[in-house]
Amino acid sequence: MAVPPLIDSFGRLHDNLRLSVTDRCNIRCFYCMPEHDVRFVDRRQILDFEEIERFTRIAVSLGVSKLRVTGGEPLLRRDLPLLIRRLAAIPGVRDLALTTNGVLLPDLARALYDAGLRRLNVHLDTLDRERFRQISRRDDLERVLEGLAISRELGFRIKLNAVAVKNLVEPDIVPLACFARENGFEVRYIEFMPLDAQNLWDRRKVLLAGEVIETLSREIAPLVAVPDADPRAPATEYAYADGGGLVGFIASVSRPFCGNCNRLRLTADGKLRYCLFSIEEDDVKGLMRSGAPDECIAALIRSNLARKWEGHEINSAKFVAPPRPMYSIGG
Ligand code: 5AD
Ligand code: SF4
Repeated sequence: MAVPPLIDSFGRLHDNLRLSVTDRCNIRCFYCMPEHDVRFVDRRQILDFEEIERFTRIAVSLGVSKLRVTGGEPLLRRDLPLLIRRLAAIPGVRDLALTTNGVLLPDLARALYDAGLRRLNVHLDTLDRERFRQISRRDDLERVLEGLAISRELGFRIKLNAVAVKNLVEPDIVPLACFARENGFEVRYIEFMPLDAQNLWDRRKVLLAGEVIETLSREIAPLVAVPDADPRAPATEYAYADGGGLVGFIASVSRPFCGNCNRLRLTADGKLRYCLFSIEEDDVKGLMRSGAPDECIAALIRSNLARKWEGHEINSAKFVAPPRPMYSIGG
């Protein structure tokens, strides 16, 4: 008997699952983490590989086919390549990607490739060592660049994620875009969202996609919107008119893309979230650890999705920032 697909009450088909495997991180980007005294979840509260794989299999049986492994910093999770291998082997998984800050890629890129991973999103805002340190409060730029070079050599498809913060990263836009063009990476600018742990976000600190498009078009080459890009993906893609590759914009603030959202999120501590910004979440871990059968987990996925809202309200006065900052959701 055919299983009904995961469609929410706004008609959106959900086939994309983001799995956070840890809330820990080895750097401290200000738009995500506090600088000191980060409170991480106790290890016993973190799902083990059996639990993550089991949940994923159930989600896949309901129609999920795209997976993204996130964190915190997922490469801090011990034996991550073993989990990647298990996820890649699930029948029905058509796409598997990983988001990382890149610091541990020099050590792990090969093992991840060998485990079956082919796509990486590497977080990189700047090629300037001082600004890297200012943003991330760590001095790891060289490690990230080395990790990128190794990963590229291995054959990974790589995208760069840069968070667009006004009055901060403007000097980095052109050098980063040139670096991406030269290396065959697609850079994606993500508008700064109200998900930081210290409540620093303010609309005036968002560097809008339009401004970045204008800068790149003026300084590098004209950008033209790519019409046939995946309409379900959060990034709007542009191509350089001179054939120099693609640039993406995740304009969550200036052009919310909730209308075609296809994403569900499982946090490292086993909570299911229908939105990055949701206030409520469902306790998958509790259900699993109390011995619930697969059907109960599947029912929880459906009931979570049934409560999914139309979209975030960043642009309205009634917006409430979610209680979890970025590192404990997974982006
Ligand atoms: N706003 C926008 N993007 C963010 N990221 C982290 N914090 C924020 C924020 N407050 C991005 C990082 C990371 C991805 C998962 O989310 O680039 O790679
Ligand atoms: Fe989906 Fe929520 Fe992100 Fe909108 S804000 S795209 S609904 S996860």
